[in-house]
Amino acid sequence: LWSLGGSCDTVRPMQNSSIFATLSDPNHVYLDCNATTPVAAFLAPMVSDWLKFGGNPSSIHQAGRKPKALIREARKSLATMIGCDPLEIIFTNGGAEANNLALKGVFENWQKPSPFAKGFRNHYIISAVEHPSIMKTAEFLKTRGARVDVLPVDRDGQIDLDIYKSLLSDQTALVSVMLANNETGHIFPIREMAQMAHEVGALFHTDAVQALGKMPIHLRELGVDLASFSGHKFYSLKGCGILFARKGLQIESLIHGGGQERGRRGGTENVLAIAALGEMSRFSGEVVEQALRLKALRNELEENIKSEIVDVTITGENGLRLSSTSSLVIPGVDGETLLMNLDMRGFAVSTGAACSSGNPEPSPVLLAMGLSREEAQSSLRLSLSWSTTREEILRFIQTLKEVVIHLRSFQNPDTALQKTDRCNS
Ligand SMILES: Cc1ncc(COP(=O)(O)O)c(C=O)c1O
Repeated sequence: LWSLGGSCDTVRPMQNSSIFATLSDPNHVYLDCNATTPVAAFLAPMVSDWLKFGGNPSSIHQAGRKPKALIREARKSLATMIGCDPLEIIFTNGGAEANNLALKGVFENWQKPSPFAKGFRNHYIISAVEHPSIMKTAEFLKTRGARVDVLPVDRDGQIDLDIYKSLLSDQTALVSVMLANNETGHIFPIREMAQMAHEVGALFHTDAVQALGKMPIHLRELGVDLASFSGHKFYSLKGCGILFARKGLQIESLIHGGGQERGRRGGTENVLAIAALGEMSRFSGEVVEQALRLKALRNELEENIKSEIVDVTITGENGLRLSSTSSLVIPGVDGETLLMNLDMRGFAVSTGAACSSGNPEPSPVLLAMGLSREEAQSSLRLSLSWSTTREEILRFIQTLKEVVIHLRSFQNPDTALQKTDRCNS
């Protein structure tokens, strides 16, 4: 793989790992991996090779056989990675589509007249910190007559299971709670919550988009009925996601008019992105090792920032979190201004979910956790990848410190001196 480095100046090695490099600009420090990860360099020549197989995977002639085989192989190795059967995988174009398919697919199925008296369930439960593709879909279902309850979270990012239990009933059709949060990295007790849902006969969906590659996942052990994933959050190409749907589960397709994915998702498959994600799944053995390495790096980052920049707090610091994500509140600076200043110095970070960037409102996730509007507006999300190095983190801390001192003096001249004095320069 190192041989790639000679031919492409944007390939850089992953620290502590000889297995692969990522395609990214070596002059920039990319700390926005929850928005999207850089693409694994070893995929580039493979994708270029696969371009030769231009047939439609649904065609039965020779030209269709190779792309069909690529999809079959990817399905198999992805199923091994996430702990399910290959036929339980439905390829979509990404995580948002998978989430839509889970919620709308279950809802539509309940609307169908059934010869069996299965009773009508019309109640949905989601958490208050879900991605907009769950939040907005739940809003949409309400316009179609569904009843939706939103589970609160506390300032540590935790869900109160007693409240959850009190919301579950024999009317509950589906619960959807994410495995790990995209903004703060909080991990939820999905196994326990799925069991509780099953006790009242409800289905359980988890949005596992942010968990893929960041923590080990075994769907059978988690006991969920549906789960969503996205390829571009795992060093692969944009345009491929997965909805896992447990064997025997009926969901209505969102896209009609194609028999692909056993009629559950019509439309010609994105062969290159599917095959690329399939190749990435061969690195599942790296997940734990990288999570441990990143935990040490993230802890060092947080400790340094807290000691170097006064008044910084880590959102939900005491909760169980992904080891690659850190959400900070830096009082006295505006998050967007901070982001732009860091960007000019070659550091990519985020103030909230990138999917909702352009939205000047403070992050609904942080507000749901009990942060004030002011705190949410002064927040910064840092998300590390398998290729993030310690040297980059140390450079980032130094730059962040300089930028915060500068912005605090500019935005809040009265307290700037005091704040600047208290920074350990
Ligand atoms: C938790 C979560 N779910 C779903 C999505 C949507 O995934 P995609 O961009 O693949 O549609 C994202 C994207 O940021 C996410 O973070």
